[in-house]
Amino acid sequence: METITIIREAETLSRWSQIHQRAAKSVAVVPTMGYLHEGHLSLIRAARAQCDAVIVTDFVNPTQFGPNEDYAAYPRDEAMDIALCQAAGADVVFIPDVHTLYPNGQDAAWVDVKDLGDHLCGASRPGHFRGVATVVMKLLCISRADFAFFGQKDYQQLRVVQHMVHDFGLPCQIIGCPIVREPDGLAMSSRNVRLSQEERPSAIALSQGLAAAHQAFLNGERDARQLTDTAASLILPKPHAQIEYIAVADPETLEIFHHQIPNRAIMLLAVRVGNVRLIDNMLLE
Ligand code: PAJ
Repeated sequence: METITIIREAETLSRWSQIHQRAAKSVAVVPTMGYLHEGHLSLIRAARAQCDAVIVTDFVNPTQFGPNEDYAAYPRDEAMDIALCQAAGADVVFIPDVHTLYPNGQDAAWVDVKDLGDHLCGASRPGHFRGVATVVMKLLCISRADFAFFGQKDYQQLRVVQHMVHDFGLPCQIIGCPIVREPDGLAMSSRNVRLSQEERPSAIALSQGLAAAHQAFLNGERDARQLTDTAASLILPKPHAQIEYIAVADPETLEIFHHQIPNRAIMLLAVRVGNVRLIDNMLLE
């Protein structure tokens, strides 16, 4: 196995990509905030399978965290991330510091995607998707990637990024990859390590609620309220679980359905289990 290249400077990464692109090689980027798990690794493997050169970015982005959120407590382990990136077949891991990505300060320039980022997760995390869109724009520009891989786990994020790329005409194709789950159904997340032993069974209720709603949908239920109630009925009784939102929406526009839903929709939810905020979603089709 070739040793992975660690890059910390923006110009070094741009040059690395340019060299590969001049040799007619396709360059993929997999943006992450590190503390990698199987969900991230599935993206790296998908990129490896589809592209000639694979960059993983490892950066906990301060501008997407609210003032009372877990930026300081976000788990970090650079050495583990580098080893996992190498094992998954990445060529480069890009580990910039905050000044490298925000050379003029964190408030200097923003990318704000209207509407798509204001509701669902955006309602309880004002400014979150502005921070995500801004850092992803920077990472796409610096990496010059031809393809960028994102998980459907963060479905609203995926739509915001797709919308941004389309709107700015960026020469990068966004690839959405399926959600990777633990054997018990819990969607993998770097935040799962912060769940206590008692909280863990409550966390599993998210995917159980989605599965129950999906089953009701397959049985012909098309009323948005009935479907969200079905999911909520599995989550509400669980100790430590507080529902932030459960919604059924259009998979493209994320417009929320309140009554009758069409034959293709997506259920999205965010639930706080103890101090840990978890999200999950499932296509209804
Ligand atoms: P992070 O939470 O580290 O996730 C990085 C990528 O991994 C995202 O595209 C996310 O959707 C994907 N991912 C996480 N868990 C997954 C799972 N269980 N199955 C499949 N994919 C999964 O999302 C971010 O970082 C940041 O917002 C970022 C885009 C890097 C911008 O800072």
